[in-house]
Amino acid sequence: TPSAVASKSNQSFIDRMKNENRQVLIMYGSQTGTAEEMSGRLAKDLTRYSKKAVVVDPEDIEVEDLARLTEVEDALLVLCMATYGEGDPTDNAVTLVEYLNAGDCDLSGVRFAVFGLGNKTYEHFNEIGIQMDKQLEKLGAKRIFHLGLGDDDANLEEDFMIWREAFLPKVAEEFGWELNTEAETMRQYQLEPVEEGKALFKGEFGRLGAYERPRPPFDVKNPYLATVAINDELHTEHSDRSCRHIEFSVEGSRIRYEAGDHLAVFPTNDPALVDRLISILDFEPDRAFRLVNVDEDASKRHPFPCPTTFRTALSHYVDICAPVKSHVLKAISEYCTDESEKEYLNKLSVANEEGLKEYARYIVKERRSIVDVLTDQKTCKPPIEYLLELLPRLQARYYSIASSPRVNEEKIAVCAVVTKYTIGDRLINGVCTRYLTTKDAGSKSPVFVRKSTMRLPHRTTTQVIMIGPGTGFAPFRGFLQDRQFHKNAGKEVGAMHLYYGCRHPDHDYIYKEELEKFQEDGVLTHLNCAFSRAQEKKIYVQDRLWETRDRIWESINAGAHVYICGDARNMARDVQATLQKIFREVGGKSETDAVAYFKDMEKTKRYQADVWS
Ligand code: 2AM
Repeated sequence: TPSAVASKSNQSFIDRMKNENRQVLIMYGSQTGTAEEMSGRLAKDLTRYSKKAVVVDPEDIEVEDLARLTEVEDALLVLCMATYGEGDPTDNAVTLVEYLNAGDCDLSGVRFAVFGLGNKTYEHFNEIGIQMDKQLEKLGAKRIFHLGLGDDDANLEEDFMIWREAFLPKVAEEFGWELNTEAETMRQYQLEPVEEGKALFKGEFGRLGAYERPRPPFDVKNPYLATVAINDELHTEHSDRSCRHIEFSVEGSRIRYEAGDHLAVFPTNDPALVDRLISILDFEPDRAFRLVNVDEDASKRHPFPCPTTFRTALSHYVDICAPVKSHVLKAISEYCTDESEKEYLNKLSVANEEGLKEYARYIVKERRSIVDVLTDQKTCKPPIEYLLELLPRLQARYYSIASSPRVNEEKIAVCAVVTKYTIGDRLINGVCTRYLTTKDAGSKSPVFVRKSTMRLPHRTTTQVIMIGPGTGFAPFRGFLQDRQFHKNAGKEVGAMHLYYGCRHPDHDYIYKEELEKFQEDGVLTHLNCAFSRAQEKKIYVQDRLWETRDRIWESINAGAHVYICGDARNMARDVQATLQKIFREVGGKSETDAVAYFKDMEKTKRYQADVWS
C-alpha cells in the first residue's frame, strides 16, 4: 500500500530508536486492534519513568532490521501478540513470526517480554505468544518478565491489567529507572482548532475524500464504500430474533473474492448514543478540531483521521460501546467532583482483589460502556478531547461471505443475526448488526475483503461434508453456489453433505427454499437438519452426524473434506468430539489413533474451520 511504502522509505525504526533515544521497542500482532491498543498503553506507561518507546506495526517495517536491535543500548523488546484462527499469527505479524522462527537473527544482549492474546475456546490457545516467548530466548535475548497469557474467553482486560502492573516495576528495576510521578496524568494529544473552510474527515480513513475517489487496493486502512443492494429478513414472523441477508455491490471496484473469504464491515455508532454523550458532557458537537501528538517524533501524529468534528469522531472513529478499559476509568476519575464517585472509579482500575472483582462485575458482566459509566457517575465530566484520546478505535467487524463470485462477482452477500438484549433496564445493541439493520438498499457502507484459507477442494469431484448451524451456514451457501456453477458447466461434481441446525423449522430456518433447490438440482446430495427446539429433547448437528456415522466414515475414508463454521465455544468442540468418536467406533481406531487421524486431517487441510466466539 502507498502508506507502507512511505514509511519503509523513511528512516528505519532502529535509527529512530538511536536518534531519539528510545530504548524500548513494542511490536504487536493485532487483528481487531486489541493488541495494538495494549501496545499503546504500555508505551504510555513508560512515560511514568520519563522513557519513550517506539510502537511498530510489523507490517510497516522491514523485519530484517530487527537484527540491528543489538545496536541500541539497553534495548528492550516487548511483543503483544494475538493468536488468530487455528493457532496462526495475525495478518500483520505473519512476516515477523516467519522471520523470527527462521532463527537467523542474533538478539544477544536484547531484553524482552511477551504478552499473548488468545482465547481458551480455541484449540491452540495463545500459540503465537508461547512460540515467540520461546523463540526470542533461543535467539539469545534475555527474558526479563514472564509470558503473559491473556484469555479473551474469560477476562482479557483483567489478565492484561495484572500482567502490566507487575511488568512495569520489573522493567524499572532491570534498568534502574526512576519514577516520575508528575508524568502520570500527561496527555498524549493536544487539541488544536482548525481554520474555517478546511476540508474535514467525514468518516473515511486513509485519505480525505477516499470514498469519493476510491483507489485500490482496498484493505483495513483503505476500505471501499460499497452500495447495499439487498437487505432482507431471513427469519419468519414466528422468530423472536432477526437475521439479515445483506448484499453489497462492489461493481466497478475491481474487488475480487472467493467463497470462504470474509467481508469486513466498518460500522457507525448509534446516533442516539452519540447524542447522549453530547448531552452528558455538553460540548459543541460540530466543532472542527485536530488532536496532535505532543511527542513530535511519535510515529502516530493523530489518534484517528484529523481534522474532523467531535460528532464524526464519536460516530466513526472511536468505540463508545465496548466495556470501558481500566486505564480509561482511572483517567476519567480525576474529573469527578464527587469524592465517592472518584474513589469508586479509581477502585475499579486497580489490579488488586477488590478492584478486579468489582471491575469484573460492574464493567464486564454487566457490560458498561463509557456512555453507561458517565450516566451512572453523574459528576464525572472529562473534557471531550481527552475522552477521544482515551477511547479505543472503532474496529471493523468480519463476516463469513455467503456467496460465490461464480454466481455474481459484483455482489458480496453476508448474513448476520442481530444482537440485542437487555441487562437490567439497559438495552444493549450489537454495534455492527444494529448499524446493518439501518442500511437499506441504496445506502453505502465501507467494506473490504479479507482472504481466508478456507477453500473448496481443488477437484470438483472430491466429496465435502459441511457442518454449519445457524449463520454458520454462510460460507456453505457460497460453496453450494460454486459447485452448482461447475455442475451447470457440465463438470462432474462430488457429493455434498450439509449438516444444518437451527431452533425451529418455522422460525429461523434460513435459506430453506434455496437448500431445497440445491437438492432438486442434485448439488446438495445429503441434507441433514437438526431442529433444536422443535421437540422436547434438543437435537444438534452432532446428533445427526452420529446418526449417519457409517456414511460419514465412509466419505471421510474416501477422502472427503470436512468444513465446520459457527460457534467455537460449544458447537465446534462437541462436533470434533463426535467426529473422533466416529473414527473410533466406526473406523475402529484406538483413542490415540483417532486423535492423530484428526490432527492429520487438520494438517492436510481436509478439516477446515471458520469458527468464532
Ligand atoms: P439451541 O439454541 O436451541 O440450544 C444455531 O444456533 C443452532 O445451534 C441452534 O439450534 C442451537 O440450539 C444450536 N446449538 C447450541 N449449542 C450447540 C452445541 N453445543 N452444538 C451444536 N449445536 C448447538
